[in-house]
Amino acid sequence: YPPTSLPTSPSTSPSRHSSPLTTLVDQWGAHPAHFWLRGQEPARAVEFDERLGVWNVYGHPEAVEVFADPGGYSSDIVHHFAPDLPEYERSGMLTQMDPPEHRKLRRLVSRAFTPRLVAGLAPRIGALTHELLDRVDGGSGLDLVADLAHPLPVTVIAELLGVPSEDRELFREWAEELLARSEVAAVGRTARSADMVAAVLDLSARMSAYFGAHAEERRRRPQDDLLTALVRAEVDGERLSAAALGNFAQLLLVAGHVTTTILLGNAVLCLDAHAGARERVRADRTLVPAVIEEALRLLPPFSMFYRATTRAVELGGRRLPAGQVVALWLGAANRDARVFADPHGFHPERDPNPHLGFGRGIHFCLGAPLARIEARIALDILLERFPALRTDPGRPPVFQTTPEVVGPRTLPLLTAV
Ligand code: HEM
Repeated sequence: YPPTSLPTSPSTSPSRHSSPLTTLVDQWGAHPAHFWLRGQEPARAVEFDERLGVWNVYGHPEAVEVFADPGGYSSDIVHHFAPDLPEYERSGMLTQMDPPEHRKLRRLVSRAFTPRLVAGLAPRIGALTHELLDRVDGGSGLDLVADLAHPLPVTVIAELLGVPSEDRELFREWAEELLARSEVAAVGRTARSADMVAAVLDLSARMSAYFGAHAEERRRRPQDDLLTALVRAEVDGERLSAAALGNFAQLLLVAGHVTTTILLGNAVLCLDAHAGARERVRADRTLVPAVIEEALRLLPPFSMFYRATTRAVELGGRRLPAGQVVALWLGAANRDARVFADPHGFHPERDPNPHLGFGRGIHFCLGAPLARIEARIALDILLERFPALRTDPGRPPVFQTTPEVVGPRTLPLLTAV
């Protein structure tokens, strides 16, 4: 996922909506740039940030328009942040590709990463969740992130790929390093952001080397895992190069756990703040999938993605020249009152719920079926085993500080009233 900059002075309308969550986010240390979390509306759906030279997109229809037009809005944005960056190995970096290369790679990896493969993981996800919760000392409460929301998806993705899940401490360090880098980048498109891009690429090379070594091993000794499937996957007689495989595997590892960790935490926070929904889902756990979708709308774990205009475009009544950086703020778009009634409220029964938490269009999250199944199973088991689960007033959650992601890094919970 790309480096980041953030709006410094978004013009917001003076009206401020309140809901249980909008008053809590300040206590949790949610990022100041995320004004929508505090119930504020953007003054305009598309706004130019003069200082950073970035077009911020806050509106839902406008974000959908961008997602739907990869020809006009390119995902290949790294050189916009660091124009002097030397060439680097980009094959396999699906999120940064445009058609037609994107289509080809996406088809290829979709052959290996199938919905059937993901559905088959359900029993293992359930067993792992129970195993992790068995280790929790129910008497003194738990930390949702450390005890479940992080170890579950990181173990699942490691097992799926076929790399040792004992390396998960290393994976956690990589993810933290990546998140810390984007925090540094929040100063904007300056020399520091070029340094940061270089540092991310250095980390990326280390991760690629790790996966490259494991993939090489699979070429020699195939196993029943995703790395082997990726080594073998073919489209039109072509296979993934070693470099592409290393890059794609690291994308799966990072995208495959950081966000799911946050999603589970956010779903628990949404239920904690909304007693009505909490009671309804406790009484009827078939509501769990809808709770997950509404949490993805209200607090999308990945809050921002970049595109760059390839030609002059019209968006939200504004005219954007070619070569401009566009920031899509999914959290703001998901609260667009033109699309969602009571946008700051938490309503799992919302139907339809066209949130953008997994993006849209050709880059729509490849891992959405996995994220959904993990979050549903884990939340269901959590509610079954700890029906009285609540946040701890003495130890509030601490949020991630980078503007790219929204959600807790620690989430202490009380298991009994
Ligand atoms: C793409 C969000 C979980 C793998 C995306 C995009 C979003 C997203 C918004 C679109 C990016 C863009 O348009 O530039 C999320 C969220 C998750 C999640 C909120 C969890 C709650 C996962 C998991 C995996 C994964 C579990 C893999 C195991 C990917 C990949 C792409 C992607 C490979 C790139 C697809 C492409 O460029 O064609 N994700 N994701 N994600 N996600 Fe996820």
